[in-house]
Amino acid sequence: MSADGLTGRHVVVSAGPTYEDIDPVRFLGNRSSGKMGFAIAAAAVRRGARVTLVAGPVALPTPGAGEGDLRRIDVRSAAQMHAAVFAAMPADVYIGAAAVADFTPQQVATGKIKKQPGEPGLTLQLVRTRDILADLAGHGLRPRVLVGFAAETHDMERYARGKLSDKRLDLIAANRVGMAGSGFESDDNALVVYGAGLECALGPAPKIELAGRLLDLVAQRLEDDSPASGMAETR
Ligand code: CTP
Repeated sequence: MSADGLTGRHVVVSAGPTYEDIDPVRFLGNRSSGKMGFAIAAAAVRRGARVTLVAGPVALPTPGAGEGDLRRIDVRSAAQMHAAVFAAMPADVYIGAAAVADFTPQQVATGKIKKQPGEPGLTLQLVRTRDILADLAGHGLRPRVLVGFAAETHDMERYARGKLSDKRLDLIAANRVGMAGSGFESDDNALVVYGAGLECALGPAPKIELAGRLLDLVAQRLEDDSPASGMAETR
């Protein structure tokens, strides 16, 4: 195993938004650019990991093309992302950088929804999507390290730690949205990574640099978790 601890590991990364179709011409989406997830995939490939990148609808070139072992799977909806991530298992690490829709229309209209004369509004019935991270945490093939992301406007630590425990994650990378120089379309970001006994502020820095520092924490968790380190502790 190399010093960075990811050589030969299978790392699955989700990135970008999901689009939830309403009818053949409309969808519900969000402002995720996919840049953070693509930066993590690029950094993991450079460290010798075998990477599966499950990408929502983004306008980004495949990272690390020709540099290493990276397979990209393009999906559109939260349900497709859930299926693609599970199909990619088993893995050592799953990093959920995608902004997966929490709700999707109960039904997709087969024809374009037309406004009716005199109709004051339109009510869409939404249902919850399946949570990829939480489902992986409870799955027999749970990756050894599960990492989530939390984009918060306020009470960041409380909400991020809540997601860490509710979804039974190893690490959660939180960022404050709505601040200049960070967030969705930006090339820079600032994260605070929380875990059991861990609070680590990263950045502000370019997303590619943050990706490397996040992977340092992931590699550390893998190492802490390895049978060899367990033996060392009991000696
Ligand atoms: N996530 C997931 N599957 C979903 C929804 C979200 O795996 N169906 C993951 C995202 O990839 C991200 C984390 O969960 O890593 C985000 O947590 P979430 O609770 O969805 O955050 P918000 O959407 O911001 O929810 P809330 O409104 O509760 O803040």
